[in-house]
Amino acid sequence: MALRSQKHVFNLPDDVTYFNTASLSPSFKSVEAAGIEAVINKSHPYKIPSSDFFDPVTELRKRFAKLIDCNDYQRVVTSPSVSYGMANVANNIKLQKGDEILVIEEQFPSNVYTWRKLAQRYDAKLVTIKKPAVKTNCGQQWNEAILKAITKNTAVVALGHIHWSNGIIFNLKAIRQKTLKHNALLIVDGSQSIGVMPFSIENLQPDALLCAGYKWLFGPYGCAYAYYGPKFDNGIPIEENWSNRLNSENLVGLTNYQDLYKPLANRYAVGENGSFIYVKMQLAALNEVLKYNPKDIQDYCRSISEKAIHKFREMGCSVFDAGERANHLFGIELPENIDVDLLQKKLKEQKIYVSFRGKYMRISCYLFNTENDFDKLVKAMEATFK
Ligand SMILES: Cc1ncc(COP(=O)(O)O)c(C=O)c1O
Repeated sequence: MALRSQKHVFNLPDDVTYFNTASLSPSFKSVEAAGIEAVINKSHPYKIPSSDFFDPVTELRKRFAKLIDCNDYQRVVTSPSVSYGMANVANNIKLQKGDEILVIEEQFPSNVYTWRKLAQRYDAKLVTIKKPAVKTNCGQQWNEAILKAITKNTAVVALGHIHWSNGIIFNLKAIRQKTLKHNALLIVDGSQSIGVMPFSIENLQPDALLCAGYKWLFGPYGCAYAYYGPKFDNGIPIEENWSNRLNSENLVGLTNYQDLYKPLANRYAVGENGSFIYVKMQLAALNEVLKYNPKDIQDYCRSISEKAIHKFREMGCSVFDAGERANHLFGIELPENIDVDLLQKKLKEQKIYVSFRGKYMRISCYLFNTENDFDKLVKAMEATFK
């Protein structure tokens, strides 16, 4: 059955039109409650059992593994940020001089700086695949350009499932096939897609997946997730802490220093990963996220935005065609003569929240948004464009 608005499970005021989950999501009511309870618990630390350093994190890893269709939760670990997880990836990649690392034009910086540094370290080449300068079939042409650029020289391809500011969808399956052919690694940033677009580790088999937790996964800021494939099983983490060593649950024996890490991805866990407040909020958040089928979320977002997109185009804006871009996140390219400062002011006055990223006004919507929200946005834009 088609999804309906879920605004009632959020605390968003009625006069706020929030189109900015791609930047920062609002909390589900249950996540807010879990956070408050965890804050209160801090006043009574004697009530926090030592198993809380580990068990809730294990449960969290299981929930994230389920969300990304990964059969083994031990391949999943929490991370303070995408860049932290990415640093662990890059730290365990060795390149040859002249090897190529492929990224996408205007990719999110946390997925670029890491690669620039790695390229410098090994005298490798960072290759940026430009967005084709076309208004139709851009997604298809961009994907073709990516596939063409993957050659025997490619060592790593690092990109998102969608572009973070315009929403173009990258064909990860075809990219994976080509990377396998040339023995190149595929590193995916799922920050703008996991939870709201269908995705399966078992099906795609990327080498690593990094994902912010404060957007489409509705957790607090400072909580990301990572999946590490077999290539990283025996890697070296960027920092050493007590909790990711084998048998660290035995607090009495902590100074029987241990050379071995816990299995698989656990070695990449940051110190203090058991963060009692964050983890409780994250557990509540993934509990909510897992209730909805990503395909149904896409259908819902498409159904509430379709009419508005038609109107945006009538106003002279460009929006990529449905099918080549995501429905929960898309960029609107404004006509050149538009006073963007004035538009931003008008939207703010009416409590309509969007992002401006590069040359796009980025709209992102979720189950708390409705067609009525899009009507408000259309009206505000029409008033500014006159
Ligand atoms: C595509 C993408 N990746 C990653 C991030 C966050 O990166 P980090 O966790 O390193 O701050 C964002 C934030 O906007 C993003 O849009």
